[in-house]
Amino acid sequence: MRTCNIKRISATLLVVITSLHISLAQKAANYEEAKVPAYVLPELMQTANGTAVTRIDQWEKQRRPELLELFSGKVYGRTPSEKIDVTYELLQEDKKALSGKATSRQVRLTFSNGKKQVNALLLLYLPNSAKGPVPVFIGYNFKGNHSLTTDTSIRYSYNFPLVRKPGHPDWQRGCQSGRWPVELIIDSGYALATMCYHDIFPDAPGLKDHSIVSLFSGYKTGPDRPDEWQAIGAWAWGSSRIADYLETVKEIDKQALMIMGHSRQGKAALWAGAQDKRFRIVISNDSGAGGAALSKRIFGETIDIVTAIKPAWFCPAFDQFKNNEQLLPFDQHELLALMAPRPVYVASAQEDLWADPKGEYLAAYYAGPAYALYGLTGLPSKEPPAVNQPVMRDVGYHIRTGKHDVTNFDWTAFIRFAGMHLKRDGKH
Ligand code: GCU
Repeated sequence: MRTCNIKRISATLLVVITSLHISLAQKAANYEEAKVPAYVLPELMQTANGTAVTRIDQWEKQRRPELLELFSGKVYGRTPSEKIDVTYELLQEDKKALSGKATSRQVRLTFSNGKKQVNALLLLYLPNSAKGPVPVFIGYNFKGNHSLTTDTSIRYSYNFPLVRKPGHPDWQRGCQSGRWPVELIIDSGYALATMCYHDIFPDAPGLKDHSIVSLFSGYKTGPDRPDEWQAIGAWAWGSSRIADYLETVKEIDKQALMIMGHSRQGKAALWAGAQDKRFRIVISNDSGAGGAALSKRIFGETIDIVTAIKPAWFCPAFDQFKNNEQLLPFDQHELLALMAPRPVYVASAQEDLWADPKGEYLAAYYAGPAYALYGLTGLPSKEPPAVNQPVMRDVGYHIRTGKHDVTNFDWTAFIRFAGMHLKRDGKH
């Protein structure tokens, strides 16, 4: 009983200290454009040995692998190639979800290494009006599948109770429905596949043993290797496993798997898209530091801040660049360029200075040459577009009014961007 109380008190203290740390860091961060230091971005179209990249084969065989290696070794950690067994079990299907507009399916993914298992619950919505296989948006939710909807048939995600005590306001059914306009997605002819990110790697200190990382051989608690994969690496891996499952679903168009992530999940979506080319369109919403924002601008959240607040997101090697951004041999425009020639979309919010909207725009802009190599078009100007005026080419971008969040404005733009590219391919 006593140990239990002590545990609870220390967990509460940790939450208080972390929130205090974030708000102090937010206050101390630089929000003045005039204070952005002079910086030189590493040359995207040049190999490590200084050769200019002018051909697709050089990009695909040399430069792209070099960049993937930098992001694996120094930012997100190495994704193991070991195969983990997975089984899929349909737990529940409702053919009359959303007043008959959609079919919802709840599917258990059980990952196993023969000794230990981790369960993850996927929630899939399919439009009933579809005449053939449909494109799908894939995205993790933060507060459990039940947080998308007031529909009581939608089950609670497995790892949610590890992170939030029952009774916490986050347990409220439908509390994230504003971020997930399921009806808009379905009415536009798209499917939605979502899972709580805690099911793959619970995002709270001390819970790594409950993550899928713990299933891999060589897993140990204790100090990590400099390039050890962490939470973002695990979430990216999990997205690929969702893609594996969706490839088995006959109602889904396998050529039209799209990944969308908000904030920390925007970082993970970009990393997933960089590694797994099955993600046909990659969308980052307000992903900020270690996501779409250029690190070298030192605007809003920095490497120093994000690695202090969330030590379990990035690999330990990333720490060497805190307060040392001029030494970074890469920047986040090169992460975005790894999507080329697949369309990538970056969304920012005007009041979300913490995520550095201008740094997000510039990274998207400077990814352009990788698209140009394929005869595709990046963003047209170094100047960001006006607020609420999306620019959609092969690289897309918008900055909307409002705060750090996912809104109907964002989703409407993502759906339009998807439609533009998938239709252009003559598929839908
Ligand atoms: C914090 C963190 C950001 C992150 C955000 C989120 O604000 O500092 O890096 O993107 O949480 O995921 O909501």
